[in-house]
This record gives sequence, C-alpha cells and structure tokens, in this order.
Amino acid sequence: MRLFLAIPLSDIMRDLLDNTIASLRRDGVRGNFTRPENLHITLHFLGEQPSAAVETLSNILLAAVCPAFPLTISGLGRFDSGVLWAGILPSKELTLLYKDLRVFLQNAGFSTENRAYHPHLTLAREYILPPDYLFPSLQPQSMTVDCIELMESSRIAGKLCYSPLSMVRLT
Ligand code: 2AM
Repeated sequence: MRLFLAIPLSDIMRDLLDNTIASLRRDGVRGNFTRPENLHITLHFLGEQPSAAVETLSNILLAAVCPAFPLTISGLGRFDSGVLWAGILPSKELTLLYKDLRVFLQNAGFSTENRAYHPHLTLAREYILPPDYLFPSLQPQSMTVDCIELMESSRIAGKLCYSPLSMVRLT
C-alpha cells in the first residue's frame, strides 16, 4: 500500500483551488491537473508499506493530535520537478505538527524525508506553460486545519485515487 499523511481541505478551499485550476486551463496552461477530490496538503509521504502499517500510522496520528489551527493559502508557483502549486503561508503550528509526526514516525522505524519541508498544494504535474506566462495572483485565503488523515494512494481503473484510511479530528 502506498501511504501518506495529509491535511484535507475545507470545501471552500477545494472550490477556490478548483476554480484556480479552471482559470489556469483557460489561460492555456497544460498538464496533469489534480482532480478536486484529490487536493490535499501532504505532511509525510511513507511510500510502499505493508498493510500492518495502517494501525501503527493511525496510532501515530492520534499521538500527534494538536489543537485546530488556521492556515492561509496564497500565491502560485512551481518546482523544477514539474509540480505547479498553490503556496501556504508560514505557519508555526503546521511546522510543529510536521516535526512531531516526524519524530513519531522515526521512532516507529519509518524513514522520513531529510530535505526541508516545503508545504504546498499540488495543482498540476508535468505542467507546460504558454510562452512568457505569468501566474495570476491567488489572493490569501484562510482555512482551519481541523483534521489529519492517513491516506492511501492507488490507481483505480487507471485513475489516481487518494482514499482516507483513518482520520483524527483536531479541536
Ligand atoms: P506532491 O503533491 O508534491 O506530488 C501522494 O503521492 C502525495 O505524497 C502527493 O501529494 C505527493 O506530493 C506526496 N509525495 C511526497 N513525496 C513523494 C514521492 N516520493 N512520491 C510520490 N508522492 C510523494
């Protein structure tokens, strides 16, 4: 099973980003765009894991529970890897949650990324921009992070699907 820990989006944020994707498409941006139901913020990507890891990872989510916190999405950008993203403004709470989870994951024997955490929302992969294209502005939009999830990434009938296996509510 291909597993990762993630923050799901509020419906309002999902709609906003779906509209952003539609406007990028209208501008002639091409790529492998994220379906709205797949939009999320990755906390930790675990890669291929045995099914027994689901229980351990669900317990790690419970152990890392923290108060709900605000998060602001703002601006568009891209990585050289071909990822086109919506940005996330720096958040002490998000960084703390990421670090707490990393400690729990490492203590449980999972390998975690060594590189710096650049939280983002992937809007497209393998993007191709029109010549001299400038990204439109994406005005800051806040949401409350009130849930963290263990997700499975799989292909169903050729479609990339992200399915929640367990979730923990933040209050
Ligand atoms: P991305 O959005 O930047 O592509 C499920 O694949 C999620 O885990 C995606 O959001 C993806 O991030 C993230 N992820 C992080 N590292 C990954 C990797 N090596 N392979 C696939 N997905 C990865």
